[in-house]
Amino acid sequence: MAITNERPTTAPGRVPFAMQDPLHVPRERYYDREFFELEKERLWPRVWQMACRLEEIPDPGDFVEYEICDQSILIVRQLDHSVKAFYNACRHRGVELCKGSGRLPHGQIQCPFHGWRWNLDGTSSFLYGKEGFAPECLDPADVRLQECRVETWGGCAWINMDPNARPLAEALSPVAALLDAVGFGNMRVWWWKETILRANWKTAQEAFHEGWHVMRTHPQLTMGQGEAYPPGIPEYTAFENGHARFQSRVDASRGGVFRGRPEGSGDEVAVEDTEDRAADEFIERNRILWEGQDAMVLERDLRVFEGLRHRVPPGEDFATAAIAALFEYARGAGIPMAPPGEGMRLWGGEIFVFPNFFVLPMYANALSYRIRPYGDDPECCRFEVWSLTTYPEGSEPGRARLAGRFAHDDADHWGLIPRQDFSNIERQQRGLHSRSFRSMRLATEWERAISNMHEELDRYLAG
Ligand code: FES
Ligand SMILES: [Fe+2]
Repeated sequence: MAITNERPTTAPGRVPFAMQDPLHVPRERYYDREFFELEKERLWPRVWQMACRLEEIPDPGDFVEYEICDQSILIVRQLDHSVKAFYNACRHRGVELCKGSGRLPHGQIQCPFHGWRWNLDGTSSFLYGKEGFAPECLDPADVRLQECRVETWGGCAWINMDPNARPLAEALSPVAALLDAVGFGNMRVWWWKETILRANWKTAQEAFHEGWHVMRTHPQLTMGQGEAYPPGIPEYTAFENGHARFQSRVDASRGGVFRGRPEGSGDEVAVEDTEDRAADEFIERNRILWEGQDAMVLERDLRVFEGLRHRVPPGEDFATAAIAALFEYARGAGIPMAPPGEGMRLWGGEIFVFPNFFVLPMYANALSYRIRPYGDDPECCRFEVWSLTTYPEGSEPGRARLAGRFAHDDADHWGLIPRQDFSNIERQQRGLHSRSFRSMRLATEWERAISNMHEELDRYLAG
């Protein structure tokens, strides 16, 4: 039986508060009920979404429930280690079959209400009280669990409720290839946490759609440059399908992204810089990132860099030596780090995967975000953060588990950098309601990824 997601309420083609130009975003897109309902009807049921990391379901019978608005999807590891996804609703009277995540006992999905059961592949295995049903109510094709499309890439399972959606590889082009080049597929969870924010999911994620808030929001990252810190260092590419790439213009083989000054400004390495000063600055920038978020730069990277202090011969560039040492370390430790190359320009940059997934790669690590509506409230979202790293081959960790849900200002559980980012989001959401405010005004280039995302969103909403 065909799955249908259509519950049309708004005539096709009509998008309330539509984008009129790329420089302004109407504020209602962040709180209006009709707009939120249209996202529920035309965006979420049709778009590929990162549903879980594959290390959440390492073994046959493992499952994860992925909730998006009023829909719940089960992602289930199969006996042959492939992955299937099912709508999480009993074929008898609709009860949700599984909640959260875990291992299905005896390889069976069982309804908690009257005990009907299904095999991991969704075929019916037990119909308690079947003698009480008319034969037409027990058609095997109709009592089997209804499948949702699922594909895997980048260490994640992705679902799409639209049976006619294009394949995942096509939908994720070109950003999947860019992430392949930084070894994203080899990365596993270092830690994983979440917070609930009183803000629309787009308000929250747009705090990560540009880097020029660094000057005011993360002053420590400017290394004392203050307002002299240039807002326009990264190179932004907004792709037609809503995805975006931010990459450094600076030569990453020199760890250049941390240099904090635009290429060609003539002062990348000031003449009076001693080698020691360059080393101190490089290590300090890495230390700030490690201490500030324990992601992108991890302690093991910092140790490699620290070990080089005072050991780089005069006249040699410290950053170049540090990055070479990192590759050397990875080789020795059996860490399958992506080889040096063009992909390194993404270090310190970011990939945005429409509609709500981010990867910020650095060395053999990455920071990753997923943001989605929480409950049925347009002004509430669930914000998950993963710190990923590449483990030595054979010592990858076991099942990945959410460390917990923590308040966005909880200094015991969030580093300084995410707390700084989170601190603006709820204030922005409230400010959007100000009687003085009509629409956001966006910087033409630096904030292009925001309007690009909204334009793709409108294409979905227009049906
Ligand atoms: S509702 Fe699931 S078996 Fe009855
Ligand atoms: Fe930030």
